[in-house]
Amino acid sequence: MATSKSNYICQECGAVSAKWAGKCEACNAWNSIVEEIVESGPPKGVRSQKGRAIIFSDLKTKTKNIKSRHTTGIAEFDRVTGGGLVDGMALLIGGDPGIGKSTILLQAVCALAQKGVKCAYVSGEESEDQIRMRAERLELIEAPVQLASTGNVRDIITSMETEALDLVVIDSIQTMYIDNIESAPGTVTQVRTSAQELIRIGKKRGICVLLVGHVTKEGQLAGPRVLEHMVDTVLYFEGERGHPFRILRAVKNRFGPTDEIGVFEMAEKGLVEVPNPSEIFLAQRQEDVSGSAVLAAIEGTRPVLVEVQALVASTSFATPRRAVVGWDMGRLSMILAVLEARCGMNFADSDVYLNIAGGLRIQEPGADLAIAAALISALTGAVIPSETVFFGEVGLAGEIRPTMQMDLRLKEATKLGFKEAICPANPSKKKSYPAGAAPIKHISDLVSRLQMEPKKVVAF
Ligand code: TYD
Ligand code: MG
Repeated sequence: MATSKSNYICQECGAVSAKWAGKCEACNAWNSIVEEIVESGPPKGVRSQKGRAIIFSDLKTKTKNIKSRHTTGIAEFDRVTGGGLVDGMALLIGGDPGIGKSTILLQAVCALAQKGVKCAYVSGEESEDQIRMRAERLELIEAPVQLASTGNVRDIITSMETEALDLVVIDSIQTMYIDNIESAPGTVTQVRTSAQELIRIGKKRGICVLLVGHVTKEGQLAGPRVLEHMVDTVLYFEGERGHPFRILRAVKNRFGPTDEIGVFEMAEKGLVEVPNPSEIFLAQRQEDVSGSAVLAAIEGTRPVLVEVQALVASTSFATPRRAVVGWDMGRLSMILAVLEARCGMNFADSDVYLNIAGGLRIQEPGADLAIAAALISALTGAVIPSETVFFGEVGLAGEIRPTMQMDLRLKEATKLGFKEAICPANPSKKKSYPAGAAPIKHISDLVSRLQMEPKKVVAF
């Protein structure tokens, strides 16, 4: 017999605790624990008698469900999904509210529907008219997409069982509910169970399920993190508010590579692909300004050139401020410490601000050298030549470590008119350097390259 009891569940990570607390012990999120009523004992519908024996199959058995990949024709979207959507796959697209998740999915689904894929768009947030208005604005009103406005998972599942569908969009999973669960929509129990049921039916019938998940900082709604392990592919839609650029990033993909990005620009008529992001990211660059360095980064399989901006100003605080947009704070502290200890530079009395221009979030350590160059330039006031790019990892001893995909980075830099690349020295010494490569071994070489006097170089 099933009985109901209260559980306290973290809406960020799904951890369950016996009593309420201000901070989740598992993920350290504050104010994210909410009381939920859960049924203990066997859930309704599960038979108490013995189960049936499973029919096993071997590896050679032909895959039934996966016919081919459905490509949308939106190249930036297709690349991030690893070459298109697969039948029966469960995809989660997470992001802040208002970032453009509904827009990108409507565009993708309309493109697929026009190619003959039978698509349904179920929204628990917007009315059918609202979706229609959005489609009108995107000039996609002719696409044969079936619309529905509901949050009832039971109804959606019945429709998935009876209608001939290839793909269903659920916008958003936090508005979905199963009526025999007492918790409100958006709680961990509802979100998890709804997603589980939808994914299960999708897999069974070979229907691709695209789930939208809002990221909420306040923990009022269960975040996409509680679903990440249940789905095949997780995409995050990122972007800075006030910037038109949006980056779609694959963080998990059972059907393709991760760390791949797709770059879009939010325009009047929806999201427009940015096939050459480097040009856009560098378009606003001001030359002859100190504190600006160009990084030749690799995002997924693609080289991207992006401007790193640093500002060093004398502080009026007892503890100088360090602020970062688009990069890791811990890594900034490390680069500052290396510059202080190995090159004798002094940032102790200054506030340091670092920004990756254009709203891109860089994660690779190959950005270290460009960050160091921007910081040195900001501190000394010396302007970095506008035709120079940087890449390379900086070690704690100040040594410059090699990074992957050197050729790809250099090719992109040459394509965009850059003449010189300050990069790591090749450890094997066998391969000759491509034209324009200026290899360095130590961070102090960077200081002298930028024609600044190193104050005190500590040899390692
Ligand atoms: P939306 O897709 O509704 O975001 P989400 O589903 O992630 O919450 O995007 C809404 C924002 O996008 C809104 O601020 C308006 C803007 N937008 C445009 O600028 N152009 C467009 O063509 C559309 C459809 C939206
Ligand atoms: Mg939306």
